[in-house]
Amino acid sequence: MTTQAPQFPGAPVVRREARDKVTGTARYAADRTPAGCLYAWTVPATVAAGRVTAVRAVDALAVPGVHSVLTHDNAPRLQEPDDPILAVLQDDRVPHHGRPVALVIADSLEAARTGAGELHIEYERDPHDVTLTEDHPGLYTPEEANGGFPAVRNRGDVEKALADSPVQTDATYRMDALHNHPMEPHAATAVWADNHLTVHDSSQGSDKVRGSLAQAFGMSPDRITVVSEHVGGGFGSKGTTRPQGVLAAMAARHTGRPVKLVFPRAQLAEVVGHRAPTIQRVRLGADLDGVLTAVSHEVVTQTSTVKEFVEQAAVPARVMYASPNSRTGHRVVDLDVPSPSWMRAPGEASGMYALESAMDELASALGLDPVELRLRNEPATEPDSGRPFSSRGLAACLRDGAARFGWHDRDPRPAARQEGRWLIGTGVASATYPVLVSRSTASAHAAPDGSLTIRVNATDIGTGARTVLAQIAADALGADPAAVHVDIGSTDLPTAPLAGGSSGTASWGWAVHKAAADLAARLAGHSGPLPAEGITTTADTEQETAGESPYARHAFGAHFAETAVDAVTGEVRVRRLLGVYAAGRILNARTARSQFTGGMVMGIGMALTEGCGTDPVFGDFTAKDLASYHVPVCADTADIQAHWIEEDDRHLNPMGSKGIGEIGIVGTAAAIGNAVRHATGARLRELPLTPDTLL
Ligand code: MOS
Repeated sequence: MTTQAPQFPGAPVVRREARDKVTGTARYAADRTPAGCLYAWTVPATVAAGRVTAVRAVDALAVPGVHSVLTHDNAPRLQEPDDPILAVLQDDRVPHHGRPVALVIADSLEAARTGAGELHIEYERDPHDVTLTEDHPGLYTPEEANGGFPAVRNRGDVEKALADSPVQTDATYRMDALHNHPMEPHAATAVWADNHLTVHDSSQGSDKVRGSLAQAFGMSPDRITVVSEHVGGGFGSKGTTRPQGVLAAMAARHTGRPVKLVFPRAQLAEVVGHRAPTIQRVRLGADLDGVLTAVSHEVVTQTSTVKEFVEQAAVPARVMYASPNSRTGHRVVDLDVPSPSWMRAPGEASGMYALESAMDELASALGLDPVELRLRNEPATEPDSGRPFSSRGLAACLRDGAARFGWHDRDPRPAARQEGRWLIGTGVASATYPVLVSRSTASAHAAPDGSLTIRVNATDIGTGARTVLAQIAADALGADPAAVHVDIGSTDLPTAPLAGGSSGTASWGWAVHKAAADLAARLAGHSGPLPAEGITTTADTEQETAGESPYARHAFGAHFAETAVDAVTGEVRVRRLLGVYAAGRILNARTARSQFTGGMVMGIGMALTEGCGTDPVFGDFTAKDLASYHVPVCADTADIQAHWIEEDDRHLNPMGSKGIGEIGIVGTAAAIGNAVRHATGARLRELPLTPDTLL
């Protein structure tokens, strides 16, 4: 669709809940303690495959304060849930290490945890397999990868084009599993009262959670309220319903009391999804001028025996560069591991590490500047679909970023720059993320006292959703954003999609804009005082968001990194990281910058410290907490800059915005890896780039 250019200021408005958060008055799911509330503690399976043969609860029930123990023997029966990971305590099967097999419910958190330690569980073990290899006999080609993308796409004849190319690269890149670890762990407080279930849940979208609970408990959704008022991060792990709400609701039904459940950090990795490990082979063919003739990106990854989830890592290669011959494919094996799921930029984050590392290898093979190589392969239309781009700002991002970063002062030779024991290098990588949007509803209300209220079940996972929705409404109403009250975070509000796929602001904002513009028109046509009930407008973007766009719509970006590698210890420091983005109109410069730099920080972790293997003997993830799974700290994030290109794209939504929540992580690890190659001359193809791999 085509829309009018908006008059939107994009002002750097401060988050409206900032003070509540730093003063501790913002209430998260586990901050709710209804009268008579009990506390639950989950007991995770200690085997990776098999079944529970006996649970002896005598000692646990003898712990003072312990109220009851739920297992598959006595837990309330569920209907078949919409996601099989939610079928907890329904049968004796153990599909992976860490699957909840019992729930201890007590008067206090301490009693519940102590009781859990006194529970004796016996298992019958089956052999397990938790190790992904590129030649695993169980590998198969799925129908689809995550996001509904076809698993395999072929254009032209890649093998012939590769064989005929004067310059070729062929390399395989590896990444272990990555964990989401939001600051607020997954938590829920559940209350049954008058045949109505209320759950305070830490989620990225409470309408989705309500639907899952309605399905699991065989209830009408209008008998369920789910509240996600403040959420301390999710990164995708709270985008699908997680077991905490189901378990808390089961425990509350069993005991007749409110129940609160917080997954402890050490259990999170095995219940909230992970970015699946990938083994990615990328082959590129080019002519002597660096024009691509063949792109082949083949991904091997894992899923669980519970459900199929295929990290769509080869999909960005269908968007990025012109090439007459292309093959992009995924193969997967179901292992005895927890189900992988969404983690910030699923597909793009992994896939662009491999593709953008391969582009750097090709630039080296050609003796061509890596920025120039990318510019020479800009496509006129989306390579895989042939659709025109609604806008494509990659070249502008590369040029602007190169100028800001001082890229052209660079001596292209590897290992040419040294400061004492530090080897210094710079690297570049592209970024992309699709424009997604979903149907939403919203309402706008003007009261006789002049106050304005927007209602929409958006979720603020730390992004500043309330603030930007107030700005969007204020823009449509011609009002001051501070005068617009915004109600979000409850299923009692107009239905809205989740905060995920970098689509929240576009989806909710479209409905908010529509309701607010409608209200503005109604107010303009009204004379005299408003009626006592005020004026309310409602909006639904069903029509606007239906169907496929004729345009290929993506945000783009370019990441530039300067790294210093300690020649003695192998330590890598990221000295500078600079991102330039083309993401449509930026609606709030302050919160947008925070999203971009937050993604880049996560990319530093992906490059240098994050990654988690599985123990082949015990079948569990080897890192259990933030002491063993290392995310970046302030000392790792010295100089990080985010900039953007002004982009006027009329084929998006009334605000003219693309999503910004995920693109910051895309390509960042490749830029850092490419900088390490430039610094040292060593091409490493496995993340993270820990000191031992550099020596
Ligand atoms: Mo994001 S991984 O779509 O929550």
